[in-house]
Amino acid sequence: MRMERTLVLIKPDALQRGLVGKIITRFEEKGLKMVGCKMMSLDEALLREHYAHIADKPFFPGVSQFMKSSPVLAMCFEGLEAVEAVRLITGVTKARQADGGTIRGDFAMSVSCNVIHTSDSLETAEKEVPRFFKADELHEYYKSEYEHVYNEEERE
Ligand code: PPS
Repeated sequence: MRMERTLVLIKPDALQRGLVGKIITRFEEKGLKMVGCKMMSLDEALLREHYAHIADKPFFPGVSQFMKSSPVLAMCFEGLEAVEAVRLITGVTKARQADGGTIRGDFAMSVSCNVIHTSDSLETAEKEVPRFFKADELHEYYKSEYEHVYNEEERE
């Protein structure tokens, strides 16, 4: 078992709809540790890199326009097997099909206006976190709550 870091972007639709606090609360209540957080206005170059896997899809220009329509909130969360834990509470991309109880399932209906982006694997997270955060924007600190979030073996 290992501590992992993963990227979460709160998308423009969530900012416009005033859902930022509720979404952060979901991650905090899960027991994840926020180690980075900043508001960013994304440019085309960063979006082309971030969405390289969909850059040739017909819907990419729309995704790009949407992601530039207002700032996003970029966050990095840390925890034991955090990449999978965050994906499980994110819900599937097409939000109207996402399970109730997931963030997309509870707050969204769209495939693109789906309130958050989250890293889909550890390999992706290891590229995405440094894409959005410089080393000195990520913080290491003691979280007393960990004593109640994990057992002794899991904390080692
Ligand atoms: S895909 O199509 O398999 O690559 O899907 P996925 O990797 O889940 O999606 C990548 C991002 O593209 C957005 N997306 C779409 N936007 C508009 N229309 C359609 N059909 C569509 N399909 C996928 C989706 O919001 C994903 O954004 P992130 O930020 O990764 O959630």
